[in-house]
Amino acid sequence: MFLLRFLITTLSLLHLTSAATFTNPLRARDGSDPHIVHFDGFYYLMTTTWTDLRLTRAKTLEGLKTGETKVVWTDSNPSRCCNVWAPELHRIDNTWYIYYTAGNKQNLDGQRSHVVRGGGHPWNFTYSYAGQLTPEWGIDGTVLTIAGRNYFIYSCLPRPQWQSLCIALMNSPTSIGGWKLLSEPTLAWERVGSPVNEGATALYNGTRVWVGYSGSYCWTDSYQLGLLEYKGSGDPMERGNWVKGQQPVFSSSEGNWGTGHNAFFTSPDGMETWNVYHATTVRTGNCDGNRYTAAKKVEWRADGTPDLGRAERTGTRLVGPSGE
Ligand SMILES: *[C@@H]1O[C@H](CO)[C@@H](O)[C@H](O)[C@H]1NC(C)=O
Ligand SMILES: *[C@@H]1O[C@H](CO)[C@@H](O)[C@H](O)[C@H]1NC(C)=O
Repeated sequence: MFLLRFLITTLSLLHLTSAATFTNPLRARDGSDPHIVHFDGFYYLMTTTWTDLRLTRAKTLEGLKTGETKVVWTDSNPSRCCNVWAPELHRIDNTWYIYYTAGNKQNLDGQRSHVVRGGGHPWNFTYSYAGQLTPEWGIDGTVLTIAGRNYFIYSCLPRPQWQSLCIALMNSPTSIGGWKLLSEPTLAWERVGSPVNEGATALYNGTRVWVGYSGSYCWTDSYQLGLLEYKGSGDPMERGNWVKGQQPVFSSSEGNWGTGHNAFFTSPDGMETWNVYHATTVRTGNCDGNRYTAAKKVEWRADGTPDLGRAERTGTRLVGPSGE
C-alpha cells in the first residue's frame, strides 16, 4: 500500500514536472494580430510584419520565441506590396492558404483582403498569389466553417468611419460572393476612440460556434475582445441568426493594455482551446510594431460558454498546451 502510494506520487510528480511551460510574450516585437495553428507536430505562428508573409514554427509555444522562420511571400505589385497585415494560415480541402490584408505604400485606403495558395503542408510548399477577395476596403479576413460551407468574415467600411464585420459565402478558397453585415460597432465599449469591429476569429466547441472580434480603436486601452454566437440553425449570413454578447470578454489588465486581435487554436492533443492575442505595455494603446504576442488557455463555464479570463502578467511561467 505504502509502495503503491509512493509510486503514484512519484508518477504524478514526474508528470507535473514534465509538463511543458512557457512565458509570455511569445514574440516581443512585431507581435501584432497573431494567428497560430497546430499541424503535424508544429505550431505555426504568423503576425503582422507590414512587409511580407512569414511563418515561424516550433514544437512548443516556448519554442516559438526562437522557432525557425521563413518568409513565404513578398509582392512588388504596387496595389498590394505594402502595409501587409493580419496573415492567417487556413487549411481548406487539404490545401493550405494564407489570407492577409495588403495595400499600397501611400495610405491605408487601398487595404484589401488577399490570399496565397500553398500545398498539402504549410512548410514544405511554396506559396503563390491566388487572388483578391474583397473588391472594396476589407481587412483582417478569416474563414468560418459551418455545416461544411466556408464563409469569409472581414472588417468592412459600408459607411465611412464605421468599421464593421462583413460576412460572405466563399465560392472557392480564393473568391467570395456578395457580403452582408454581421456586426456593427453599436455598443459603448466598441466605440472608444473610433467605432471599430475587426480581427474576427472562429471558435468551435461541439455543435456551438462563436466569432471573436476586437472592438474600439487600437490607440486606446479599450481595444478588447467581444463574442458573437451562432444560434445553431439558419443562414450564418443573416445577422438575426447570431447573438451578440453585450459585454467585452477579454480586456486590458494592469501591464497588458489593448488586449485584442486574437485567434483561437487547439492544443496538440485537441483537448484544449487557446487564445493567442496581442497587447502592449503602453497604457494609451498601440497600433504599431510595439505590440507583443501572448497566449492563454480558454476555460469553459458550466453553461458551455468560453471564459477567456484575464491576460497574465508577462514573464509569469504558465503550463503549456496539453500534448506538448
Ligand atoms: C514535409 O517535410 C518534412 C521534412 O522537413 C517531412 O518529414 C514531411 O514528410 C513532409 N511532409 C509533406 C506532406 O510533404
Ligand atoms: C469544449 O467545452 C467543454 C465544456 O463544455 C470543455 O470541457 C472542453 O474542454 C471544450 N473543448 C475544447 C477543445 O476546448
